[in-house]
Amino acid sequence: MPTERKSIHGQWSNRFAFILAATGSAVGLGNIWKFPYIAGENGGGAFVLVYLLCIAVIGIPIMMAEVLIGRRGRQSPINTMRTLAYEENASRHWHLLGWAGVVGGFLILSYYSVIAGWALAYVFRAGSGLFTGLTADGVQSIFSNLVDEPERLLAWHTIFMVMTMIIVARGVRSGLERAVRLLMPLLFVLLLLLVGYAWNSGAFHQGLDFLFQPDFSELTANGVLIAMGHAFFTLSLGMGAIMVYGSYLPDNASIAKTSIAVSLMDTLVALLAGMAIFPIVFANGLEPGAGPGLIFQTLPIAFGHMDGGAFFGMLFFVLLVFAAWTSAISLIEPAVAWMVENLGMTRIFASVTAGFTTWLVGLLTVFSFNIWSDLKPLAMIPVFAESTIFDLLDYLTANIMLPLGGLLIAVFAAWQMKRESSVDELAMGDGFFYRSWRILVRYITPVAVVIVFLNAIGII
Ligand code: TRP
Repeated sequence: MPTERKSIHGQWSNRFAFILAATGSAVGLGNIWKFPYIAGENGGGAFVLVYLLCIAVIGIPIMMAEVLIGRRGRQSPINTMRTLAYEENASRHWHLLGWAGVVGGFLILSYYSVIAGWALAYVFRAGSGLFTGLTADGVQSIFSNLVDEPERLLAWHTIFMVMTMIIVARGVRSGLERAVRLLMPLLFVLLLLLVGYAWNSGAFHQGLDFLFQPDFSELTANGVLIAMGHAFFTLSLGMGAIMVYGSYLPDNASIAKTSIAVSLMDTLVALLAGMAIFPIVFANGLEPGAGPGLIFQTLPIAFGHMDGGAFFGMLFFVLLVFAAWTSAISLIEPAVAWMVENLGMTRIFASVTAGFTTWLVGLLTVFSFNIWSDLKPLAMIPVFAESTIFDLLDYLTANIMLPLGGLLIAVFAAWQMKRESSVDELAMGDGFFYRSWRILVRYITPVAVVIVFLNAIGII
């Protein structure tokens, strides 16, 4: 019994457009900025292995569940959850899951935008030839000059939020599809170029060993939680972004194939970024655990020493900004779709309201890198001893809210929805693949998420 519902916000032109948009959402700062720095902080290989395992066993099945719910409900996550809970005779409280997603999206975007602002700033720093011939020290001081100045960070954060609001106001479809189609492949090519540079850096093997040789003594329980949280973060799962994109997916597209395609591309980009960055880290005697500034303190060295580095550097940061942009819009789309549906706002007004709120919360992150850099609000808890407000926001959203949201999405799709509903919506028959998916989301994913949580708290 396929539902006859149509989304009032329109639909992607075809399956390919959804893949592009979902890839645009998935591939972003998470792959190029966050993955290398958390892999560096958590000891490399073993962390990467757990992350890859989480993508395969938890990420892909939950992505399918999220798209499936979205396409069936065809509304903002809040209203989708409300409608489906009603149809499936589940508790009406399920719509709170949609709310949690809206709040999570705001919080993530608030710091995401600040980091995207760094990438924007680096477009100009790279383009002006500032990196030419620089040593590691020079690159480091360029980075500190940027983040030490609250006004600078604020200005770039503001510009990025305005860029995001403009696209969201115009509607996710127009313009976006084309931008992703062209820019994603280009970003990929530039990453290959950087890996090529890293190859000749003299420490390529050391870099690869760090990334791919698991040393489990380096991995902590908290590290496992961070790896799992990142699987959600990098695939944009757990807060309704993929759900809302799924709500614009045409009926005849295969949810399984599209989810796998998106996850593979996303993972490939992250691994390439790691392969570009760690050889540079080791070749220049830098610290893999340098933290959130890692790519901004390593890649400029590469650009500063290659022919045409000013041009390629600028291009790289432009593409990074685009990747962040196409992710940012998906973080705020659930909220905007809801405001249009329930508050009767125009898209423009909804985008400005949501954007302004996010911008305000973003100030917390702006100040975390300078005037409040010594403020460690949860210092009494050992794992958070060194955490700034930004670190805590990131931890709360990526490592707690997203896995919890994803867990509930899995529970809803596998335990609350009738079997017929998911068979019907996934449209891949009732054979081996459907059954494997169902076993994964029914048992494996929820249990895995709970175990990782309990392990991180120290209970098991
Ligand atoms: N996946 C994006 C990245 O890796 C970030 C992102 C976009 C996201 N939408 C999301 C993260 C929704 C969590 C939930 O950069």
